Amino acid sequence: MIKIIQGDITTLAVDAIVNAANQVMLGGGGVDGAIHRAAGRELYEACLKVPEVRPGVRCPTGEARITPGFRLPAKFVIHTVGPVYRDGLHGEPEKLAACYRNSLALAAENGCKSIAFPCISTGIYGYPKEEAAKIAVREVREFLAAKNAEEMEVIFCCFSARDVASYEKLLS
Ligand code: APR
Repeated sequence: MIKIIQGDITTLAVDAIVNAANQVMLGGGGVDGAIHRAAGRELYEACLKVPEVRPGVRCPTGEARITPGFRLPAKFVIHTVGPVYRDGLHGEPEKLAACYRNSLALAAENGCKSIAFPCISTGIYGYPKEEAAKIAVREVREFLAAKNAEEMEVIFCCFSARDVASYEKLLS
């Protein structure tokens, strides 16, 4: 089941919240900063333990990593790294789609029954909001339709009313 809400993802008592991280995966601004602030220092320490796949990269763009949520009401944080938007012709749509697919798969693998997504890549990474929402909705619908996808509650947690409108248009 898919829900759209407007709010701060760090307040959601769901099994997993998704963090729009960067490849270093040690925090940042935007929702990444909010999640690290709310989760506390232990989240930083848990991220440090995630092995680097190459120098300075713990989570390559499009992939996802899971840590506990620590002080967050959410049980887990699934960190995923969206593409930096250039012009849409450099694999950005595919990478953004992979963020949703890989985060959902990781949530399912960890027995999550509810997961909340921010609008990945649409802030500092500059992805056009409407385009990104289309990709997000498509990937979530495909995942939930797949026969082996346990009924999972997927929440699009939008920070702004404008984002809510983009998703409502797609889901109406
Ligand atoms: N709850 C929900 N959504 C939020 C919150 C919050 N507390 N704070 C910000 N957002 C929204 C933004 O409004 C935007 O719609 O999250 C979306 C993603 O924006 P960013 O956080 O800027 O993430 P992104 O565009 O993916 O850029 C990632 O920013 O914070 C750094 O370390 C991060 O380098 C990485 C980059």
